[in-house]
Amino acid sequence: MSPDSKQTGSDDRAYITTPIYYVNDRPHIGHAYTTTLCDVWARAMRAVGKDVFFLTGTDEHGVKVEKSARERGIEPQALADENAAEFERVLQIFGLTNDDFIRTTQDRHVRQVQNLVRRLRDTDAVYLGEFEGWYDEGQEEYVTENRARETDYKSPISGRPLVKATEKNYYFRLSAFQDRLETMFDSEPDFVRPLARRNEVLGRLREGLQDVPITRTNFSWGIPFPDDESHVIYVWIDALMNYATALGFGDDAPETEHLRTYWPADFHVIGKEILWFHAVIWPAILMALELPMPRCVYAHSFWISEGQKMSKSLGNFIDLPTIEGYMETYGLDAWRWYMVVQGPLGATDADFQAAGFHETYTTDLVNTVGNCASRTTAMISKYFDGVVPSDEGITFDGWDFEAEIGASVARWRLAMDEFALDAACESAIGIFRTIDAFINATEPFKVAKDDSRRAELASILARCAEALRVGSVLLAPVLPNKMAALHEALALDAGASEISFDESTGWSEILAGRTVRKVALFPRIDAPTIETTS
Ligand code: MSP
Repeated sequence: MSPDSKQTGSDDRAYITTPIYYVNDRPHIGHAYTTTLCDVWARAMRAVGKDVFFLTGTDEHGVKVEKSARERGIEPQALADENAAEFERVLQIFGLTNDDFIRTTQDRHVRQVQNLVRRLRDTDAVYLGEFEGWYDEGQEEYVTENRARETDYKSPISGRPLVKATEKNYYFRLSAFQDRLETMFDSEPDFVRPLARRNEVLGRLREGLQDVPITRTNFSWGIPFPDDESHVIYVWIDALMNYATALGFGDDAPETEHLRTYWPADFHVIGKEILWFHAVIWPAILMALELPMPRCVYAHSFWISEGQKMSKSLGNFIDLPTIEGYMETYGLDAWRWYMVVQGPLGATDADFQAAGFHETYTTDLVNTVGNCASRTTAMISKYFDGVVPSDEGITFDGWDFEAEIGASVARWRLAMDEFALDAACESAIGIFRTIDAFINATEPFKVAKDDSRRAELASILARCAEALRVGSVLLAPVLPNKMAALHEALALDAGASEISFDESTGWSEILAGRTVRKVALFPRIDAPTIETTS
């Protein structure tokens, strides 16, 4: 597999990752959001016939975990076990289809990180050095003199003063990769997306890179540095390497050989706050390890809540119990829909609003998808005893219905490939809008009153049913449960997912002669009722 084949999207394998989440936090909307985006893409790529590897997991080392555990009087490993289990439980609740769940305290990860770091040291990409600099304790990172001055020697994130720190540590020779990184940013304009984020990273990259310490000696909850156990490997280096250790790159064992064929990642999906590590440090490590680059680091923005940054004290935190409240009222698929179409996929933050959730649900799912499905199936039930008629080939002025549906499929395919999940959803729901418009224009309910127009009626409803079927294939990655229900109502075999994407989204007569059921997919809900719980 050539690294370039990923750039064109022509490869039959796909690899997508979420950040691995810190175990000193409880799962909340931020984690659920990123993982849901990846899940939608993974399902979509499986639907188009790719062999997908979708990775998520937990980041379990570091001083914060050590501290939280100490505060609770338990071992860091016990804290990690407890919270990792909670993150895994969330994946179940949400029906997320990750292929692996990596924990950085697992033996497979620890062993491989040590091997990879050894490899870096053997090639002189890692060396022992002494360093004095401005340290942001909250972020656990050093900042350059220039940046420290710009922010008045305070953390730009927490506002707390930076501290002057001296350490003898192992360093990663980041500065040696300056030119190669700049060249890569020039030649791969889509390496970091969205564009605004790429420009930010590039600006900072051009300020010049300094070597980064990759070990710590002031705490012990981490992976010991190989052959010098007074140092532990900095949590970020340990964490980034999960993307490679999950596929077995740290020991190249024969039993994980098949996994390595998924490399490199198509998308490392992350939040914007951790972009530098993913867009600069991680590629430099990969260069040092001589591994092919990911196709794209996709950094989405943040959810805020009812106009304000989420915080426990404001009581506007969208935590797990709140999310579960939404899922109980509106259903899991409605939650996924809102995440994908109203979320912060682009360069601006998105505001989670109970009223906005309700409106999106009602407009898109009740009034468009649900209404269209129930209208079509109800008319087939009423006028054809539930049996989908054959298309009699009647033409309708101004309508090239089949071509319009085909164009939506093509747009969906392109958008999905580029991780434009919101645009993909827009193309898919566009099919349902087209069906509605077609029904309104051709007025089958009037045509039905005239027995001499049966062929016309059959042609309208056969096409609507067919478009409904195609639309349901495109919506399935984001609305898997409701679209499964629709498939069932359309009497499609469960094995429908076995057929190729082109077959399943191409125009066909597959429904003709099948008995469909009237279907109500999304119940109308009166008013927003969910309270945030924290
Ligand atoms: N452990 C590191 C990541 C290491 S990856 C090699 C970490 N963990 S985290 O638990 O803090 O998760 C951060 C991620 O959670 C963000 O990058 C983003 O994916 C998600 N979100 C956390 N809060 C968020 C919002 N308010 N909105 C959207 N997503 C955000 O950083």
